[in-house]
Amino acid sequence: MPAPSPEAAAHGERVAARIRAEIAAAGGWIGFDRYMELALYAPGLGYYSAGTRKFGAGGEGGDFVTAPEISPLFAQALAAQAAQILEHTAPRIVEFGAGTGRLARDLIDALEARGVAIESYGIVELSADLRERQRSLLADARAQWLDSPPRDFAGLLIANEVLDVMPVRLFVREHDRVTERGVTLRGGTLAFAGRPADAALADAVAGIEAEVGALPAGYGSEVGLVARGWMRSAGDWLARGVLLAFDYGFPRREYYHPQRLMGTLMCHYRHHAHADPLWLPGLNDITAHVDFTAMAQAAHDGGLDVLGYTSQAHFLLNCGLPDLLQQARTPQAANAAHRLISEAEMGELVKVLAVGRGIEPPLAGFARGDRTHTL
Ligand SMILES: C[S@@+](CC[C@H](N)C(=O)[O-])C[C@H]1O[C@@H](n2cnc3c(N)ncnc32)[C@H](O)[C@@H]1O
Repeated sequence: MPAPSPEAAAHGERVAARIRAEIAAAGGWIGFDRYMELALYAPGLGYYSAGTRKFGAGGEGGDFVTAPEISPLFAQALAAQAAQILEHTAPRIVEFGAGTGRLARDLIDALEARGVAIESYGIVELSADLRERQRSLLADARAQWLDSPPRDFAGLLIANEVLDVMPVRLFVREHDRVTERGVTLRGGTLAFAGRPADAALADAVAGIEAEVGALPAGYGSEVGLVARGWMRSAGDWLARGVLLAFDYGFPRREYYHPQRLMGTLMCHYRHHAHADPLWLPGLNDITAHVDFTAMAQAAHDGGLDVLGYTSQAHFLLNCGLPDLLQQARTPQAANAAHRLISEAEMGELVKVLAVGRGIEPPLAGFARGDRTHTL
């Protein structure tokens, strides 16, 4: 793992001090969900709330690269699906967690190139730091930053790699009970410690086991209750339209497979993936894969229809990526397309879920390879 600079290490220490103070105030233990919330979003300190580089290739000093950052081909293909949805609803988009603003900029351009004029492009962004970054990239009068999600919205909602950075609760299945893994202080240092699960976590694990069967003793994983609440709320936001959520994840049976003994929690630091979320809080991205079965159920509970579920590769191919590549005709574009659709890279690991209201399927992006039946 590359060593952090002295400034970065000092920042990490400030974040850790903030977390230690909260643990002490809470009587010596906080749930991992609260730890993750502080490490990623504590104002001015957390990974997404302070001015670290985050996005970008290794040479640019970032920690990870997302699909819209790899190539404008992602936005150009997505524009095909967006155009179909906007034609049947309204020419409005709201994007959650817009990162650098690259997808917003490229998608507005790509829609314009298709003759679709956007009326407004709203962004809901938790991080004040990223909001500023988005403002400097997106010099477009139609772009607007919203303090909260829309209500009674008609149009398209987008969330790319947002669900996987929502705080998760960690559990361990013991012989006769469920334990929650949280964070404590041992000799003044952040350390994991277990407690009996409360009713909400125990119920969530019982719900999982009711579907996948009893998990073996010692089995540890995570539950994304915040993501479920967010997806349920989408039913209040959308009056007519579609929410497209792209993320790393799988259906429940695959997620909680008996052989996936350690869950999916993963951290990124300077393009190195590691599994210790307590290391240098505030300097690392912390992610957990998405249980797309839970997302579909939550959307359904919120009154939305599930309109499609497929891999990123299928989605982009259905949206005309090969033709876009033909037009681009550069080795860089070919290389980027490979990263977006290759099974070994993002093509199969990232999935796309479409949920919505008042929309008649089929949606173009799910025409071939729809896997809704696997959820
Ligand atoms: C991994 S980044 C992805 C950024 C961008 N979508 C991309 O693909 O490059 C996660 C983003 O989601 C934001 N975020 C996390 N939780 C959010 C929430 N509940 N509402 C809105 N934005 C959120 C973060 O601040 C960050 O901008």
